[in-house]
This record gives sequence, C-alpha cells and structure tokens, in this order.
Amino acid sequence: MNEEGREEEVQATFLAAQERSRQTKEKIEKSPSSFKMITGDRPTGRLHLGHFFGSIKSRVELQNKGLKCAIVIADYQVITDRDTTAHIEDNVLEMVIDYMACGIDPEKTIIFTHSYIPEINQLMLPFMSLVSEAELLRNPTVHAEMLASNHSLTALLLTYPVHQSCDILFYSADGMPTVVPVGKDNLPHIQIARTIAKRFNSRFGTEPTFSSPIALLSDAPEIPGLDGRKMSKSYKNSIMLCSTEEETRELIKKSPSDSERKITFDPEKRPQISALLTTAALTTGRSEKEIAEDIGSGGAGALKSYVAESVNAFLAPVRERRKELEQNKDKVREILRAGNEKAEKIAASTLQKVRQAMNMIYY
Ligand code: TRP
Repeated sequence: MNEEGREEEVQATFLAAQERSRQTKEKIEKSPSSFKMITGDRPTGRLHLGHFFGSIKSRVELQNKGLKCAIVIADYQVITDRDTTAHIEDNVLEMVIDYMACGIDPEKTIIFTHSYIPEINQLMLPFMSLVSEAELLRNPTVHAEMLASNHSLTALLLTYPVHQSCDILFYSADGMPTVVPVGKDNLPHIQIARTIAKRFNSRFGTEPTFSSPIALLSDAPEIPGLDGRKMSKSYKNSIMLCSTEEETRELIKKSPSDSERKITFDPEKRPQISALLTTAALTTGRSEKEIAEDIGSGGAGALKSYVAESVNAFLAPVRERRKELEQNKDKVREILRAGNEKAEKIAASTLQKVRQAMNMIYY
C-alpha cells in the first residue's frame, strides 16, 4: 500500500475507534457494572496535572461508577526506549502513591506491575504468532518512539504493541467487555490487541477465548503546560502533584508571559497567558473568560498569583494524602503486593484457558 493509502486507513481506523468509544460511553452510563476497565502507565517519573485531567480523573470516575478496574504499572515498557532502570523502584512506588492520592482505591482497582506476573508475559509467545513483522513495522507510535529514542529499533520496542496486548487481554478472557482508556497515541496498540483477540479466537479453540478490547478516548480538554506547549516533564512546564506549594508558586511565577497588562483569553495569539487561564479554569471550575475579566488590567503578576492559589487549593487534599502515604512506604509496598497477587490469579486463569484452546494441557 502506498503512503496515501496508509494515511487513509489510519484515519478510517481512528474515526471508527472514536465512534466505538462514544457508543461505549453511553452503554457504560446505562450499565457500568457490565464493563471492566484496564489501563496503565509507564513508571518514568511523577504524575503532573496533565496526567490528572487527561486520564487519572476519568479512571477514578469509572472506578466509582462500579466498573471492575485494573491499572498496570508497565515497568518493562520503560526499557523500550531507555537504557536504565536505575530509578524504577522509586518511580513505581511513587506512582502507586500518586494514584491513591488522586482517589484510586486499591480495594476497588487492582494496581499491579506487569514484571511480577509471569503468566501475562507468557501470553507473548502465542500472541507473537498472530501478528506479522510488517504489521508491527508500520505501527506509527512505535516508529515515532524509535525516532525519539535515538536508538535503532530494539525487538522489545518493535513488539511493544504485542506486549501491551498481553497486559490488556489477560484481563479480557471472562466474556465481559473490557474498555481501555488511552490517549490517541496508544490507539494503534489497542488496534493490535483487537486483531490478536480476533485471530486467536478464530485460530484456537471452539469457543471465543478473548473479547475485543475497546479504546475509550478522553474528551477532557488537554491542559497546556505553563509555557503554552504540551505539558511534559522534559519541558519543565508541568505542575507536579508531588511539588510543595512553594515550588508550585515559584514555577508559576517564573513561567513566560507577555507585557500586555490586560488579561484576555486568546490561545492563538497569547498561548502563555491562555495556558495560565486554562490552568486556573480547570482547577476552579470557572471559565477562562470569567477569570480574565476578573483580573482585567491587573497584568500577568495578578494572574499568576491567582493561578498559584487555585492550583495549590485544588491540590491540597491530594498532597495531604500523598504525605501520609510517603510516610508509610511499607503500606504502599503491601498494596502493590496485594494487587500483584490479584492480577496473577486472573492471569493464571487466562493462561489456563489459552492452554485449553490450544490443546496444550497434558496432565
Ligand atoms: N503504553 C501505555 C502508555 O505509555 C501504558 C500501558 C502499558 C497501557 N500497558 C497498558 C495502557 C495497557 C493501557 C493498557 O501510556
């Protein structure tokens, strides 16, 4: 297929996924307890406000609606494009803390690390027989990550979507439809998980083993970084959940702005001032326009004070819970251990079904 044909195919897949996501959200509203949710993150650092509004908030909502939930801390995925695991233990534990501080309840949501679940990793072998090299090579997200990593393509990065399919499908073998809240960049991986589920079912066993996972696309507005660019740790423009009030105030104070005193919301012409307004809007529930009118000709200084106050007030309860958990790391480790145990039970049952479907039970 030529480039143009590929683009069209990618676009068509995206539109179909978007429509499926929309319809599924309606079904979840009507009957939340007939769905399961699984999603995850790579433990590469602390969570920031972008993560909170982009994904964590909706996970907490799904959890509280009564879906069965699991979150994978994808520690093996860290080495798809990095060479070191030096800070991984800290990152994993802090991630559990961030989740819980934001309202993820380990009684309702299984939090686990996929490196601890051998049965999940074992699914990799049969799944690898179900996708071709060409299908993996044309995954746009894998390609983008390879370019960003400045490395040649490792076999782990090439098979990233298959590994992620293991994370998802181990949870999708009990007949209940599984939704996967992800950003647009992860859609190609969910697509491969759907393909693997379908091919496995048609090739092995008499009854379908896996249900096809459904990507849930976020419709939350993306919170920009303090400089108007995408919020990203590497740009140093992110408000971290774990920062102190003082650090947050300083970061906001130092963020770039312009010299026009009158504050207006205009993301095109004034991206930096508008990013500050959006940050204040999301953390107060007010609209950007209303806030801009209130500040009026007070200038960037007044706006920044307002943003800092709003963010710190919004994050105060999260930071309070963080502090408690920080002081009790043993409890955090215990929560992870219990989550891994629950995930392993499910994975063992899935692997048994896979063996059965493949006629590989010998005694
Ligand atoms: N690849 C995802 C990310 O970088 C993280 C992830 C790993 C994931 N396993 C998953 C997401 C399973 C959803 C389902 O954001």
